[in-house]
Amino acid sequence: MCLKSMGYPSKPGTSTAISGAIFVIMGLTQTVFIFTNPQEIKTMRLTADQLRSAYLNFFESKGHKIISGASLIPENDPTVLFTTAGMHPLVPYLLGEKHPGGTRLTDVQKCVRTGDIDAVGDSCHLTFFEMLGNWSLGDYFKKEAIAWSYEFLTQHLGFAPEQLSVTVFEGEGDIPRDDESIAIWKSLGIPEGRIYALPKEDNWWGPAGTTGPCGPDTEMFIDTGKPACCAECRPGCRCGKYVEIWNDVFMQYNKTAEGAYEPLKQHNVDTGMGVERTICMMNGCETVYETELFAPIMAEIRALSTLQPDPETALRAARIIADHIRTAVFILGDPKGGVKPGNIGANYVLRRLIRRSVRYAKLLGIAPGYTRTLAEIIIANYAHVYPELDANRATVIHELTAEEERFEKTLTAGQREFDKVATALKQHGQATLSGRTAFKLYDTFGFPLEFTEELAAEQGLAVDRAGYEEAFKKHQEASKQGDATFKGGLADNTVATTRLHTATHLLHKALQTVLGSHALQKGSNITPERLRFDFSHPDKMTPEQIKQVEEIVNSVIQRNLPVTIETMTIEDAKEKGAVALFAAKYGEQVKVYTIGDFSMEVCGGPHAANTGELGGFKIQKEESSSAGVRRIKAVVTGVKG
Ligand code: ALA
Repeated sequence: MCLKSMGYPSKPGTSTAISGAIFVIMGLTQTVFIFTNPQEIKTMRLTADQLRSAYLNFFESKGHKIISGASLIPENDPTVLFTTAGMHPLVPYLLGEKHPGGTRLTDVQKCVRTGDIDAVGDSCHLTFFEMLGNWSLGDYFKKEAIAWSYEFLTQHLGFAPEQLSVTVFEGEGDIPRDDESIAIWKSLGIPEGRIYALPKEDNWWGPAGTTGPCGPDTEMFIDTGKPACCAECRPGCRCGKYVEIWNDVFMQYNKTAEGAYEPLKQHNVDTGMGVERTICMMNGCETVYETELFAPIMAEIRALSTLQPDPETALRAARIIADHIRTAVFILGDPKGGVKPGNIGANYVLRRLIRRSVRYAKLLGIAPGYTRTLAEIIIANYAHVYPELDANRATVIHELTAEEERFEKTLTAGQREFDKVATALKQHGQATLSGRTAFKLYDTFGFPLEFTEELAAEQGLAVDRAGYEEAFKKHQEASKQGDATFKGGLADNTVATTRLHTATHLLHKALQTVLGSHALQKGSNITPERLRFDFSHPDKMTPEQIKQVEEIVNSVIQRNLPVTIETMTIEDAKEKGAVALFAAKYGEQVKVYTIGDFSMEVCGGPHAANTGELGGFKIQKEESSSAGVRRIKAVVTGVKG
């Protein structure tokens, strides 16, 4: 279901002649359309629903247990904000724990990846997508995985073998070129000229966070038949000739906290096929936005638009709105709940998505209230697959509308302020917007820093990030609470408070493990006698949860884990997966405290040298602090030394 008729421009050479034919897909008789474009590509027409069930049924027929996809909010991993891949919830099993479903699993996983948020608006970057996956937990390996991928693509989805190009790992250091995968692809009939051996940056996947299972991969691309952009054009090239739709990862290694790759006890397979892209390729669409998964959203955006910027700008704006609101609906509608628009972590990502969409809605002259209209369409489109969206409809719509309204109030005034400053800068031949202005736009008008950077880039201006952070810091220091947070909530630096500070990090991580990753620090205050820790969580903790948290902290204390410190940029810290109160108070270089393999946080310190110094940990009180925020008071007991 393409959107060519919607009125958005479509590049020449993409129109397709469709002729009907009957195919049998996984035992179902389907009307399938074989259509021919100028390159005579044969593609069958299949809906996303049919693709999901064809995939699961295929792998079930190969002995896989169909399992449910997990929440978008990671269960046990506070080092990442969202579930980014199908393997993410399966990490313990890839490392050797027994899965109740056995050693062959398959599912559909909702994923959010925000690393490329600024690239959304082009033809293929999305912040939310569905991943089809199949796993071998120490069961089959390369031969079966590749052969099944090939069988599914060619015999069940109907891609012609000539449309496929594949890449494999070319080797690095002690890890050799993946000749085994090359031989398997050749044995299946893929000629050498369409097998590309590429470096680690292309053909190595994982770990999902900072440590964990990873390995070389082989990626499958559909050649769209477009002309090559240049002599070097190959799978992975950004010109759009090749579209990656599936990745088979051979997870043989575990990346340690020290950065070493140690062989895993078991050889695993982790695969991921993108639903949106596959549907796009199968239906001969130019972009994912033309598929049935986006068509109704795009059509509504077009219907709501009252302004006519140039077609390219309008198309990009419409795609950004569609992508961002779809992602926001899935985050807000997640069964685990708890992520609301806010200023840190996942909450901040959600705020950025909604606010960025509001700005582009303005550009298209879309009247306020559009987030509700689009959310209704998205929920209707997906509720049969993800019933949680329907169940959480009221929350989704309430939060979207409230955030839209909040930003509506200040966006126009903020934009005026920005335009005034940008014009003055350009008149004076200056190329950088000051950190102070960026902070004012944040503080007074609610412009996330990245948002200001985007506006600035459009005017050929940079933003003084360090200056922004400094302005932020000054502001924080001026307010009492900010001051306490900046110092990690320490009243002084005695041995006792230092130990309680380390206990605070352990508590933070343990709370996220037991309650979920929404349980984020909201405040901290430490005296020599006790720690006080505020965190986001909607309900009173049960006695069992309190006990579990105490047990986790005490087990880490008993493990005598070293507390180490490194200094790095906030970007590096975030990349390494350190927990940070995003958008808050950090200078250019930050200190990152790592507690063994247990926790990593950006923090001013100071800390105990070893968890063993803490002796023992006890929660004395758990109570409400404010709406949606709980407060724990705790002590460390029996301190050694
Ligand atoms: N985990 C692999 C990916 O996300 C399959 O590409």
